[in-house]
Amino acid sequence: MSMAESHKKLERNVTLLAVGAFVAVAIGGIVEIAPLFWIDNTIEKVDGMRPYTPLEQAGRDIYVREGCYSCHSQMIRPFRDEVERYGHYSLAAESMYDHPFQWGSKRTGPDLARVGGRYSDDWHVQHLKNPQSVVPESVMPSYGFLSTTDLQVADAAAQLRALSHVGVPYGRDEIANAKADLAAQANPEKDGVGLMARYPKAQIRDFDGNPGKLTEMDALVAYLQMLGTLVDVSSAAAQEELATEKGR
Ligand code: HEC
Repeated sequence: MSMAESHKKLERNVTLLAVGAFVAVAIGGIVEIAPLFWIDNTIEKVDGMRPYTPLEQAGRDIYVREGCYSCHSQMIRPFRDEVERYGHYSLAAESMYDHPFQWGSKRTGPDLARVGGRYSDDWHVQHLKNPQSVVPESVMPSYGFLSTTDLQVADAAAQLRALSHVGVPYGRDEIANAKADLAAQANPEKDGVGLMARYPKAQIRDFDGNPGKLTEMDALVAYLQMLGTLVDVSSAAAQEELATEKGR
């Protein structure tokens, strides 16, 4: 049978064609999927990245609950305009503890991946209460209720435990102290030594300008002020590139 004849036969027989198409697609699939079984991790670890503190985690939950991701991304792409505006492009490791990740797909407002430390806590509180009072042309809605709403985390320990089941390395110590750490981060009068040891670079202070009360505003501002501050990006990016070159 000539090549043309066998091809004709294949094209005219639905079952043969389906089997042929399946085999062709399966080869492509195996080439993509098989290597994942032999490499330990698809993300290079970088120095400084750590799981979020219970307060940052609570702030992150508020961020998700309020749908901030519908207007803000947390993913700086490696393009010149983005890097000049937002800072070093995002590294894979910087969102390795995000469940779910907050890369976003729309930027009505600016990217927030490195917003930590760019503004004061006061600025954030004022901006979240009334965005137009600091940025007159802003279309961001106001979230003033956050500063009058007590922060309620049903079970901080259970939350960390759940995250540890999906691979976030919270240990026994973090889980046992979750409730105390949650309160300690927003209250400098409490002992923050253990907190600092468990979560290097944790920022400990009252975030919402109201030390008497632990509010949702405290948690959200703590989260925002942490974003992009954990990893020394230029040295981490160099490590990551070196690892890619070595094919690790
Ligand atoms: C309807 C779209 C929209 C939503 C929802 C929204 N924002 Fe914004 N946000 C904006 C816009 C537009 C700006 C730029 C103008 C300004 O600063 O207000 C902005 C600016 C910001 C900035 C300043 C960033 C910078 O680098 O200057 C922060 C921080 C921020 N938003 C946080 C939040 C948080 C937290 C939430 C959720 C509680 C949220 N935003 C929800 C539209 C939105």
